[in-house]
Amino acid sequence: MTNHSAQNQKPFAEKMTDILNYSALNLAMAIGYRTGLFDVMDTFDTPQTMQVIADRAGLNRRYIKEWLGVMVTGQIVEISRDEGGQNRYYLPKHHGDLVARRAGNSNLGVYTQEIPLLTACAMEAVIEGFSTGEGVSYDRYPQFQAFMSQLADAKHRQVLVDRFLPAVDGGRLIADLRAGIRVCDLGCGTGFVLTLMAGAFPDSRFVGIDMSREAIETARREASRQQLTNLEFVAADAATLKKNSELKASFDYVTAFDAIHDQTRPLAALEGVHHILVPGGRFSMVDIAARTNLEDNLDHPMGPFLYTVSLMHCLPVGLADGGSGLGMMWGQEKAVEMLKAAGFAKVQVLEIPEDPFNLHFLCFK
Ligand SMILES: C[S@@+](CC[C@H](N)C(=O)[O-])C[C@H]1O[C@@H](n2cnc3c(N)ncnc32)[C@H](O)[C@@H]1O
Repeated sequence: MTNHSAQNQKPFAEKMTDILNYSALNLAMAIGYRTGLFDVMDTFDTPQTMQVIADRAGLNRRYIKEWLGVMVTGQIVEISRDEGGQNRYYLPKHHGDLVARRAGNSNLGVYTQEIPLLTACAMEAVIEGFSTGEGVSYDRYPQFQAFMSQLADAKHRQVLVDRFLPAVDGGRLIADLRAGIRVCDLGCGTGFVLTLMAGAFPDSRFVGIDMSREAIETARREASRQQLTNLEFVAADAATLKKNSELKASFDYVTAFDAIHDQTRPLAALEGVHHILVPGGRFSMVDIAARTNLEDNLDHPMGPFLYTVSLMHCLPVGLADGGSGLGMMWGQEKAVEMLKAAGFAKVQVLEIPEDPFNLHFLCFK
């Protein structure tokens, strides 16, 4: 019997009530995050009236009243009554630590936007996919790149240069980055990771590759705004790299953050990484921490959330154009198998202390 046996579960009716309440709460929290209401409430050290909150946020009081109804009954915001008989509202600091933008890489508030966003983009197309088996193209998710930039900012700004890179290969990578090497970030999106690295390591040269022209344009604009000259962006399909003779053995280090599992031809992309690396080069693939067999994910703390993100985005975009449709929960066993099939004989699977959502697959050519 599994640990999900009936006696370990809440009565199902009670669980259903929780599901309805928490999914509604997630939606209202996404609105609180997006409108900046959490950030505004987080600035107050004492409970405030609705009017003060509305004035500070510059938002409509009547909408805020309804929103506070959700936040108070959902126990995100505390309510009290002042001596004049008016209600006052307070976002406890330890809640702000996780849902305000200042939360950095502890920011869980940013993730509340994910399911509502994917629902708005693709609910109908995904339901259709259940009948047709067809994928859904990336174009159907117009706000996705902007959301990924916010996630990348939350995940990487405080840790990439100071903690993640110094830990790679016993500190040897960061020494190389300081001395000057050629680096490629595959599936770079709007380039957040690369602009951080290019700013920190002026003697290295960086190339970002992504198939989204729109994301590449945004990345170029940001690099030029930051006056970074050691950085360029190229719009290309990762699956075509292995046929590009000019790029053969032209990078010392390649990274792919959350960018392999939703490709339509992921094995070709990994073979491409192998092709563009110099012998002895390193590849950091940072991808979701999960197991390949569903039974091994029963205790995953974010199982339903991550499988839903995969169902609504990673799987359908990976199925587009007859793609292989790995899905985000492809799991570490399948990932290692594919990295080996792509030519990487040496693959280390490492935990990332500051990012329990992901694993670091460090590969050597
Ligand atoms: C989930 S996003 C991650 C973006 C970025 N690395 C980050 O961590 O914020 C995946 C990215 O892979 C890109 N992508 C998907 N398939 C691709 C392909 N075949 N070739 C190049 N890029 C691809 C998408 O356009 C998207 O920007």
